Amino acid sequence: MRLKGKTALVTGASAGIGAAIARRFAGEGCSLYLVGGRNKPALEETLAACRGAGVQAAGEPADFSDLKALGGIVGRALGFLKKFDILVNCAGTRSHKPVQEFTLEEIETLFRVNAMAAFLLSGLAARHMIERGGGQILNIGSTAGEAGVPFNSLYCATKGAMHLMAKAQAAELGPKGVRVNVLAPGTTLSEGTVARTERDPERTRRLMETVPLNRFATPEEIAACAAFMASEEASYMNGSVVLVDGGRLCL
Ligand SMILES: NC(=O)c1ccc[n+]([C@@H]2O[C@H](COP(=O)([O-])OP(=O)(O)OC[C@H]3O[C@@H](n4cnc5c(N)ncnc54)[C@H](OP(=O)(O)O)[C@@H]3O)[C@@H](O)[C@H]2O)c1
Repeated sequence: MRLKGKTALVTGASAGIGAAIARRFAGEGCSLYLVGGRNKPALEETLAACRGAGVQAAGEPADFSDLKALGGIVGRALGFLKKFDILVNCAGTRSHKPVQEFTLEEIETLFRVNAMAAFLLSGLAARHMIERGGGQILNIGSTAGEAGVPFNSLYCATKGAMHLMAKAQAAELGPKGVRVNVLAPGTTLSEGTVARTERDPERTRRLMETVPLNRFATPEEIAACAAFMASEEASYMNGSVVLVDGGRLCL
């Protein structure tokens, strides 16, 4: 077990990649405080699966459009776990439209959920981790944080912000024993992606042609890499952006 005796706070744990990471971490022996999004039943399902793997798990739903709630979430996580070794910033949302159509409200929402929540949570976690002498922050970024994607300029901007935030924090927190990294998936078959691919098969075919492995990732494949990056096996990895994209950005 890679994470036996460790504790983690995972956001975005009610669905997709975050839920897969929670389940995988539980299977690796990690106790968990899971922050859903707004879908409480889905979060309860992930929590039950984690407890079924034999670890302690609790959590709460949250809406990161209100960032003032984050301090309370970290306090309750610490109350339950007593300490946390790992923070996984996975909550995220996207918006697909021409650059000239984004509204101020959409820009604020995406930055809050995808970048600002991760920034604030990283600061709160770092405070605790520095006091304890170490820890790890794993940000779930995206290939869209490394390369431009048409009609995704807002999403790209938020993920690019997350990637550079992580590199700066890695440089700052490394000397204090806190490793900060980014796992950047390519297209991954979470529930939301599956719905999108079914809605637009022609776009899906074109997208698939850009992936040398000729298929999309499963959430479990992303979770496997997250378990490695959060473990002591990755002890010299700091400030890295690890692409898990089937080779897409090679092209
Ligand atoms: N799937 C992909 O192709 C892909 C590729 C690259 C990167 N990623 C990144 O991977 C992460 C997970 O993506 P996914 O595909 O697994 O997405 P997903 O299935 O839609 O899950 C997103 C998670 O974020 C939560 N979330 C969304 N809006 C929120 C809000 N306002 N407040 C709090 N939580 C919120 C959702 O909770 P509720 O639904 O319960 O609100 C859910 O738990 C995201 O950061 C995404 O950008 C995904």
